Amino acid sequence: MAINIALDGPSAAGKSTIAKRLAKKLNYVHLDTGAMYRCVAYKAINTGVDIASETDLCKMIVSTEIELKNDGSILLDGKIVTNEIRTDAISMGASNVSAFKEVRALLVAQQQKMARNKGYIMDGRDIGTVVLPDAELKVFMTASAEARAQRRYKENLSKGFDSDLNQIIEEIKARDWQDTHRQHSPLKKADDAVVLDTSDMNIDEVVAAIEALLPMNK
Ligand code: DC
Repeated sequence: MAINIALDGPSAAGKSTIAKRLAKKLNYVHLDTGAMYRCVAYKAINTGVDIASETDLCKMIVSTEIELKNDGSILLDGKIVTNEIRTDAISMGASNVSAFKEVRALLVAQQQKMARNKGYIMDGRDIGTVVLPDAELKVFMTASAEARAQRRYKENLSKGFDSDLNQIIEEIKARDWQDTHRQHSPLKKADDAVVLDTSDMNIDEVVAAIEALLPMNK
């Protein structure tokens, strides 16, 4: 029987990569909730909406359509923005907009609607605590800021983006601080989540470790 899997953890811990792999193996649907916060920041920045105004952001969100396709592509108002929302500037913007309570409420409601049925693997910061508190498996993936920065650095280079490792380390630390210290739904391990430190693990090892935790494999 299908279950729901909540995958939380700090930025650049590899959650999306792992979730994508697991979804394929299990024939589940992967929902990358970070992409939704990224779309909000991207649209605000590109349409001149004040990113510091909760009211303006909420007004914008109610007339915005975000689609997370199962092939990994992200559509914002019908336009593919899969790569455009991955820049370091949008990462910081997403962290900023995600601190607003009403912005979160609007996106969480959409996420809960998307994962009404079982068979979802959802990655984010508040999945195990807020979005899917009843998920049958909750994993909290961590890795050192340096290990995460190295991965993001390589990813940026492979996509042809300019990249500076030290700057990424600083940005990751700043986002960690912001995401764990915000007032509303801060990044926090759910009490019943299993912690997985992936600093010294490769993708296959992380996937295998999570598979071993699945109730049907126990
Ligand atoms: O996972 P990511 O790096 O794509 O997420 C971008 C930002 O969105 C991140 O700084 C925190 C925020 N976020 C959140 O607050 N809650 C989620 N469920 C997912 C992401």
